[in-house]
Amino acid sequence: MTASPIFCAVDTPTIDAARSLASRLTGLVGGLKLGLEFFLANGPDGYRALAGQDLPIFLDLKLHDIPNTVAGAVRSVTALNPAFVTIHASGGPAMMKAAAEAARETADKLGAPRPRLLGVTVMTSLDSGDLGAVGQDPDMAAQVDRLAELSRESGLDGIVCSPHEIERLRRRIGEGFTLMVPGIRPRWAAANDQKRVLTPSEAMALGADHLVIGRPITAATDPAEAARRIADELSESHS
Ligand code: C5P
Repeated sequence: MTASPIFCAVDTPTIDAARSLASRLTGLVGGLKLGLEFFLANGPDGYRALAGQDLPIFLDLKLHDIPNTVAGAVRSVTALNPAFVTIHASGGPAMMKAAAEAARETADKLGAPRPRLLGVTVMTSLDSGDLGAVGQDPDMAAQVDRLAELSRESGLDGIVCSPHEIERLRRRIGEGFTLMVPGIRPRWAAANDQKRVLTPSEAMALGADHLVIGRPITAATDPAEAARRIADELSESHS
């Protein structure tokens, strides 16, 4: 069986709830996404409690600071051995380069795998007016493309992007640059607050590498069953 592309978003501040979910999902998803809510409540100890469950971790910290500080944060976080870490591409090329170098050097020193660094381009909560208000290009697609290309030129491994950006970004950036995609909904799941969604199979067919799926799994009566159903749908669409 090929590795699952799915990272399940564990949006809870509670270690026990996260651990119980993780143990039910082992073997059914490709990893877990932990965000600031969990990490700021539980720190590295909470992280280790989940990392012991044999599921790779995507640590969604959205780092953004001066290059020296972000490099230090990446050094600290590399010691935890996450599969992916996010940083804001709008922090600029020097910050992203410092982060990439810190990840490489620290992993080499520890003899551990390097975390893959993903750029966050434009938050999907922002619209064109918001971009203009902070002095950025109000042409949303142009701003996303610019930050995606800057991420790649600065040595990051990929970006987080929304479902409707997959096709365009894959065409512009080519292969070998990771597209991690939230906003994914199986047909049978509620959209919740996600506005423009694609199904897992649609997103993969357009060129996504990994999918972030939260509530369709975490809020299901039986999360393992929901994860299995998604995995089955993905493998059917490949056959
Ligand atoms: O529950 P749901 O599948 O909507 O969760 C999606 C996860 O992806 C959440 O952790 C959310 O914060 C994150 N995310 C998102 N849209 C973005 C970036 C991140 O939904 N543009």
